[in-house]
Amino acid sequence: MSKEASKATQRLWTKKFSYDYWMEDQNIPIHKGYYIADLRTVELEYWEFAKCRAAFVQLVGQEGVTSTRILEIPPGETLKMPKAAFDEIVYALNGNGLTTHILPGGGKRTFEWQPHSMFTMPRHGAYELSNTDGNRPVRLLFFNYLPMAMSTVPDPEFYFNNSGTPPHATESDFYSEAKMVKPSDAGDAYLGKRIYWYGNFFPNMQAWDKMNDNTHRGAGSTSVYCQFPDTELSAHMSEFGARTYKKAHRHGPGRAIIIPVGEGYSIMWEEGKEKVFIPWQECSLFVPPNRWFHQHFNVGTVPARYLAMHPPMQFHGHAEKVTDRAKDQIEYVDEDPLVRERFEAELAKRGTTSLMDPKAYTTRDFDWTKFAANVHGSEGIPSIIG
Ligand SMILES: [Fe+2]
Repeated sequence: MSKEASKATQRLWTKKFSYDYWMEDQNIPIHKGYYIADLRTVELEYWEFAKCRAAFVQLVGQEGVTSTRILEIPPGETLKMPKAAFDEIVYALNGNGLTTHILPGGGKRTFEWQPHSMFTMPRHGAYELSNTDGNRPVRLLFFNYLPMAMSTVPDPEFYFNNSGTPPHATESDFYSEAKMVKPSDAGDAYLGKRIYWYGNFFPNMQAWDKMNDNTHRGAGSTSVYCQFPDTELSAHMSEFGARTYKKAHRHGPGRAIIIPVGEGYSIMWEEGKEKVFIPWQECSLFVPPNRWFHQHFNVGTVPARYLAMHPPMQFHGHAEKVTDRAKDQIEYVDEDPLVRERFEAELAKRGTTSLMDPKAYTTRDFDWTKFAANVHGSEGIPSIIG
């Protein structure tokens, strides 16, 4: 039995998992709590395993489900990464760099990234990461489902530098910039109703302009759904206007939310319990805990964006279904009046006022599509999200 499995067996009811013991054995910082104000500035230490400075982030609501860690590449250097047997999403926090995949036939394929690029690292891939800036270090955030995998096979050697081969058959499959897929394009294989973007490279989530209206969550928001080849990993990003806020909702655990741009805050609470206040800005990270309501507020002067990297489908909860709205989403007409008061007070501190339409607080089925057109300057495309 591996060391991790043995510890987990001895302490079965402590809610610590095999992954947690492995993580603690790496001897680098583990940042905990409800949020990270700025991933670009948290403390890192040298990680012998990856031969670079790094830290884990394990926020409340993430334990046992998803993993996040930060790696830093020194100025001008190239890191040869250990091969991992699981898929990962990578988000570039700052700086510019290159990812070079060593293909099974020995060839190489390289692509460039910049701040707010998002790409995937397919399982069993051999790759290098380079910092193309000679003066400043760059940081990358990695997201994966390793905690769940290790609850099934707790042996670390199963996941690193083993002899598995990547899922992609040809060189051209390796790095494709995301393309739009409409439900009609996907045919029988596609079971949902959303337009989504499919590929393993999204060049810049801060500047991404291919968004669809997502008004079921209120306040004229728009969204993009991101799916990646040959993996169950997925993500979505929403944008909502300055001086507005979204409806509270809840779902399953493990959803890591990073802010590509904006200034605001979120509140998170377990039904009937005290609310936790999460201030955010560019490169903040937070995770709504399992079945906690959460609600996002933009107090800045520009539209704010949040990118949610999803847990496995088993943990999504049911909040996305219209039939469950009464249980898992709080309409503006039903919300605690203190929510609106706090928002208005936060804006007043900044010398400004709310742009929420007052009718939204008295009209249960308030039509946000027209509001979306005003806030985003779009043509008010009807929501396709059902
Ligand atoms: Fe959410």
